[in-house]
Order: sequence, then structure tokens, then C-alpha cells
Amino acid sequence: MTTLEKVRTKKALVGVIGLGYVGLPLVRAFARAGFRVLGFDVDPKKVKALNAGRSYIKHIPSSLIRELRRAGTFEATDDLGRLAEPDCILICVPTPLSPTREPDLTFVKRTAGAIADRLRPGQLIVLESTTYPGTTREVLQPILEKTGLKVGRDFYLAYSPEREDPGNPTYQMESIPKVVGAVEPKSLKVAVALYEQVAPRVVPVSSADAAEASKILENIYRAVNIALVNELKVLFDKMGLDIWEIIEAAKTKPFGYHAFYPGPGWGGHCIPIDPFYLAWKARQFGVTTHFIERAGEVNVSMTEFVAQRIAQALNQRRKPLKGSKVLVLGVAYKRDVDDIRESPALPLIERLQELGARVSYHDPHIPVFPSLREHPDLKMKSVKLTPAALRRQDAVVIVTDHSAYDWDWVAEHAPLIVDTRGATRSVTRGRKKIVKA
Ligand SMILES: NC(=O)c1ccc[n+]([C@@H]2O[C@H](COP(=O)([O-])OP(=O)(O)OC[C@H]3O[C@@H](n4cnc5c(N)ncnc54)[C@H](O)[C@@H]3O)[C@@H](O)[C@H]2O)c1
Repeated sequence: MTTLEKVRTKKALVGVIGLGYVGLPLVRAFARAGFRVLGFDVDPKKVKALNAGRSYIKHIPSSLIRELRRAGTFEATDDLGRLAEPDCILICVPTPLSPTREPDLTFVKRTAGAIADRLRPGQLIVLESTTYPGTTREVLQPILEKTGLKVGRDFYLAYSPEREDPGNPTYQMESIPKVVGAVEPKSLKVAVALYEQVAPRVVPVSSADAAEASKILENIYRAVNIALVNELKVLFDKMGLDIWEIIEAAKTKPFGYHAFYPGPGWGGHCIPIDPFYLAWKARQFGVTTHFIERAGEVNVSMTEFVAQRIAQALNQRRKPLKGSKVLVLGVAYKRDVDDIRESPALPLIERLQELGARVSYHDPHIPVFPSLREHPDLKMKSVKLTPAALRRQDAVVIVTDHSAYDWDWVAEHAPLIVDTRGATRSVTRGRKKIVKA
């Protein structure tokens, strides 16, 4: 049976490498569609948890993993020797930036090497990790072809970007169109057939490079628009205008405007990182990506803007920031997620500590800071949120507007609130204590 036939009859074994925020939703989608799925991860703790029916990602419930385990449709392993088993392999490993803010493809290259060690005829390899245009063709293909097997003749190679939006109840993998591009036509045909089994619509594009570029465009669009409203927030504030009121008014236009919201910076595993993959690649073509660089400057500058806002608000109350107790509410990178990676809370906490504040935090989704590669010294534990705990603070800073918070209750007890998210707009009592940042 050919790979195409196996895919069309759901007899293909689907391998997912990297069982994180992107890999697990893919496992769910393919297992629910009737495929058997073999998940790979180098972290033995994750493998053990999954095989025992436990999820470590909030929006993928353990009950689902247990159901898949019971049905025998999903197994996790840290044994990369089993990479010869799957007919289709989807790569969802991290693509971070190096300390000098250049693409760090270590995980992708290591994974490609592990696949190459066992590559067999008929396998379809798809990269899902976000990266610059050219990665699949220039980085993956040579590693895989070093085996002597040839793409299009012996195996298939494609790129299909993940569009997962963690915590978004409206859109999940199964309801989001899937863009697919490949390095040659046969690979495209097999990859399209595979994703047609799980996606509501598959959008084939002319090449793997085009698919990579489409994903990076989506993320740059967000990065730039977030920077735009952050910049305007500072200006409108000086003009005595409220950015939140203005955005609400602007978004009533039924066409040509899409609302983005300001905040304490930018965050998450994608928006502050992926645009710089393209900025790096652009330099090889002698082009400077001004919008990407400017978006980075503006969004990063929000840390200082918020820190100064807190200092000024305390100053108004005859208090220096140095020695003041500051409680940060919400440290996840966005509302209702349990992910702290690249959260704007992290540089803000570091800056406040540098300025001498005594910082604590509360987050219902982050009970304790995981170890963070870029912030090795930040080790904190969520405090208990009580009226007394709020009253004890000199300032309470809203960094992440989780829906679990009752803002009226916070405003009732906190002596001073610095709101970076427009979370307290509907609070009526105690407005004098609220400062926008
Ligand atoms: N998180 C998102 O919302 C999101 C959305 C779209 C795209 N992406 C992209 O998807 C990719 C993965 O992101 P994520 O958020 O799922 O990361 P993650 O850190 O949640 O998961 C990655 C997993 O890969 C594992 N891993 C690392 N190296 C491995 C290897 N060599 N072999 C097997 N497993 C390995 C890690 O242990 C981890 O469990 C990135 O390129 C990211 O930019 C993420």
C-alpha cells in the first residue's frame, strides 16, 4: 500500500515529534480522526505522564489523553529509535532565538538527524515549527537526503505551519484551515491528503518556502499591530485620551479595521520571536525589515513605560518605588493560559526588582515559576490572594487579565492599581485608585 493510500484509508501511523503546546493538539486531531498516533518527546517526564493518562497543558484535558490511551490510539515514547515506525512524521519542536537573537535551529536539526538515522522509503516528513522561509528546503532536505534517499522518489517532505491559539475556545486545530507547501509536487499531494483528514480546509501553496513565509507574515502582522497600539497608547495618554475607548469606537467599523490591544509589552512563544527569524534571513538579501525592528523596539519599551508609571503613581502618594511592595496580578503571557514563556511580566518584575521594589505575584494558572532559560534567577511562587494581602501592598499591577479575577473585588481592597490591560474599565467604585499604564 502506498503512503497516499494509507493516509486516505487512515491506516497510516502518524508520528508527532515534540509533545508540547503544538504537538498535543495535533495528537488529539489525528487520534480523533481515527489514526493511530505515536508521540515522541525527549523529556521522559512528559512521556511518562502522557502514557499514564495525564496532560500537562491546561487546554488539553487529562480525560482526553486517558480516552486515547484506553482506545489504544495514542502512545508516547522517548525512544527515537522508533522513528522508523510512523508513515508520516510531524515535527513540532521549539524554534527559539539564540542569545544574540538569531534563529536557533538546534532542535530542528537534531530532530532531522534522528529521523535521517532511520529514514525509510515512503515516509512523509512535515515540519510544523515556525521558522524563516527556506528552512525545510535548505536545512531539512540536505540532512534527510544525506541518507542516499531522494525526496519525491523515496520519501516526501513538506511544511505546514501550526496556527494553534492556546486558550482560544472558538478556534482549535480541527476548525482552522491548514496551509501546506512542499519541496516538490508528490510531497505536496501526500501532505495535502494527510491534512485533509483533520482540517476543515487545506490551502496548498506553491512551495514549502511560501508556506513558511505565510506563517511568519501572520505573526509579524500581530507584532507590528500590537506595537502600533502600544505607541498610540503613550501618545493618546499624553493627549488625555483613553486608547481603550478609542479602539472600541474604531472597531465598530465593519470593514478595513481589525482591533489589536495595548499591554505591558508582548509575549508568548511566537510573537516576540518569529519575526526575528525573517529579519535575520532578510539580511542575507541585503534588506532591513524596518517594521519588525521598530515593532520590537516599541513593544520592549513598554516594560520601562509601565515601571515608570508605577514609580510615578507611588510618587504621587509620597512613596518611593524602592522598598515599596508591588504585587503583580497575572504572569502568564496572555489571558487564561498557563504558559509563562516570553511573558512581559518577566522583564517587568526584573526591572521593578532592579529599582528596589519588593515584588510578589499572583497567578491562578502559574503556581510557581518553572525554570526559565533567559531568566535563571527568577524563582517565585504565587501568593495567596486575600483582601488582607491586597491591602498590604503599596501597588497592585495588572499584567495579565485572567478571567478568574474579580476586578471590583481587587479595586475594593488594593490601595493603588496600575492597569496595563484596560481590565478595570467597568469598575465604578474606587476609580481614583486606578492608574492606566
Ligand atoms: N505555542 C504556540 O501557541 C505555537 C503556535 C504556533 C506555532 N508554534 C511553533 O511550534 C513550535 C513548537 O512550539 P510549542 O509551543 O509546542 O513548544 P513546546 O516547548 O510546548 O513543545 C516542544 C516539545 O518538543 C520537545 N522536544 C525538544 N526537542 C526535541 C527533540 N529533539 N525530539 C523530540 N522532542 C523534542 C520538548 O521536550 C517539548 O515537549 C515552535 O516552532 C513554535 O514557534 C507554537
